[in-house]
Amino acid sequence: MCGIVGAVSQRNIVPTLIEGLKRLEYRGYDSCGVAVHQDGGLRRARSTSRVAELQQEAAVDGVASGTGIAHTRWATHGAPAVHNAHPHFSYGPRAADATPGRIALVHNGIIENHDELRAELQARGYAFTSQTDTEVIAHLVDHLYAGDLLEAVQQAIGRLRGAYAIAVFCRDEPNRVVGAREGSPLVLGVGEAAQGEFFLASDVMALAGVTDQIVYIEDGDVVDLQLGRMRIRARVAAAPQSGRFEPVQRKVRAVQAHSGAAELGPYRHYMQKEIFEQPVAIANTLDAVQDIRPELFGDGAHRVFKNVDSVLILACGTSYYAGSVAKYWLESVARIPAQVEIASEYRYRDSVPNPRTLVVTITQSGETADTLAALKHARSLGMQHTLTVCNVATSAMVRECLMAFITRAGAEIGVASTKAFTTQLVGLFLLTLSLAQVRGHLNEQQEQQHLKALRHLPVAVQAVLALEPQIMAWSQAFTPKQHALFLGRGSHYPVALEGALKLKEISYIHAEAYPAGELKHGPLALVDADMPVVTVAPNDQLLEKLKSNLQEVRARGGELYVFADADTQIASCEGLHVIRMPEHYGVLSPILHTVPLQLLAYHTACARGTDVDKPRNLAKSVTVE
Ligand code: M6R
Repeated sequence: MCGIVGAVSQRNIVPTLIEGLKRLEYRGYDSCGVAVHQDGGLRRARSTSRVAELQQEAAVDGVASGTGIAHTRWATHGAPAVHNAHPHFSYGPRAADATPGRIALVHNGIIENHDELRAELQARGYAFTSQTDTEVIAHLVDHLYAGDLLEAVQQAIGRLRGAYAIAVFCRDEPNRVVGAREGSPLVLGVGEAAQGEFFLASDVMALAGVTDQIVYIEDGDVVDLQLGRMRIRARVAAAPQSGRFEPVQRKVRAVQAHSGAAELGPYRHYMQKEIFEQPVAIANTLDAVQDIRPELFGDGAHRVFKNVDSVLILACGTSYYAGSVAKYWLESVARIPAQVEIASEYRYRDSVPNPRTLVVTITQSGETADTLAALKHARSLGMQHTLTVCNVATSAMVRECLMAFITRAGAEIGVASTKAFTTQLVGLFLLTLSLAQVRGHLNEQQEQQHLKALRHLPVAVQAVLALEPQIMAWSQAFTPKQHALFLGRGSHYPVALEGALKLKEISYIHAEAYPAGELKHGPLALVDADMPVVTVAPNDQLLEKLKSNLQEVRARGGELYVFADADTQIASCEGLHVIRMPEHYGVLSPILHTVPLQLLAYHTACARGTDVDKPRNLAKSVTVE
């Protein structure tokens, strides 16, 4: 999704800004741009190609300066086109064709009252050159500018409704960049003191290798970067609409950002690499786990776990499916009622709050706008026991929640989530066991058995990865298809959902997942010889029921592709293809059964020639609503 990098320095900062954009490329974007203060005016380059082309364009045009801002855009308002790409300029009223412009601005987020502001600014003579909501902010800052950019930005953001992180500079104030945030991430980087430099970025990853001295900007903050000097002001909380700000100190932390340009090694894509990293990611996630204790989730967790009587899980996409698996575990192992909600729905639903609920958010990035908003909504309803399962220790979500379990999947670059999902499941199973223990449903022997199974997982996943050649052969049959069905039952139904999401996300094949017993209630009408039906078949208590469901598909000529546990007695025959899973994994079986579905989606997408790591229209980190 959109990315921001900005800087003031005594050296030419353009190469650093462009490198920053390259590190954010994995998040997904459809256009990009850079603007600098140069020769007393504003200069910019924008492109609907990749950042590498922007780099060439900027070099050819001689774009160079110590003050600049850069952006990768993921279109929300207005098509992906150069005129909609950021940075946006304001030329002042009645002067759209005049050069140079006065204000340059980049923005992440969505301004909800942009129509109203646009009409007001048009009435004042401002001409718009894009369809974006962002351009209104540039004109608004211009309109309010009276010689002090910080003052103008403070006044402007008082007029904005919605979510934003912005970085702005002004023709009349060289060596100054002002930033602000409300609902979208923004960090400040302290650069080389000798150069007097400071940076802004929407993600610390953009600053990897540039600085590890990071300040997390908070909602309602404005930041003023000048050579050798930075100031942060916080909106006066008691009077949020007053537009009053006061100086605030925010901690500078040493943050080792990993570089987005991680080595691919022998792999074709990051997704493939990340699928194969799962044994290590799971082992790392379990590394610090010696025994089952609530304190794995933070100090004070024991007291909270003792007091809660239910669990509410909030998440989006793949993380939602992890939560859906966890619901089965929480209810069957910990005997605690659990509810899973899609974050973007929950935040607007008129639900019945229960202050004794443990609110669990699940998020790889920790920056997903819908999940963050759902958490805040739950808190506003009086639910204060909050815990997150997250892959980024420094993310907004970890800072917002009382308790956290940090998965150690490492950086996930591919848009399609893989190792994040399986490590989330590990974290959620540990949560299940901890709650079970506190509630008296886990004795010492059971704890040891579960720990043994968890510790064996990396080896078990490795054995599933060895199935890759067989799965690759299957992918040939999926390559020409337009549709596919996925079936699972019980805790493997969310696994089927996740398999279908993976396939549609990266291969663009329409895929649906159903609990197998639901087939005859409608979707069976879709089944014919052209419909591949992927089935997750663990050897659990629903196996015989599942076998009957498979018969229903075969009887209609459907082609079955079954991932079956060794002892299921499901054998290949005409129209029924079987890949045997190396071992049956009991309650943790959903983790194992996820892996072949990831490989199937991956190899099908490769055969179809899609952009596997950056599928069309999608972003890695969804920081807008
Ligand atoms: O960072 P999050 O886990 O909060 O992201 C949630 C979803 O956007 C994410 O899981 C998305 O569905 C993935 N692209 C799926 O592969």
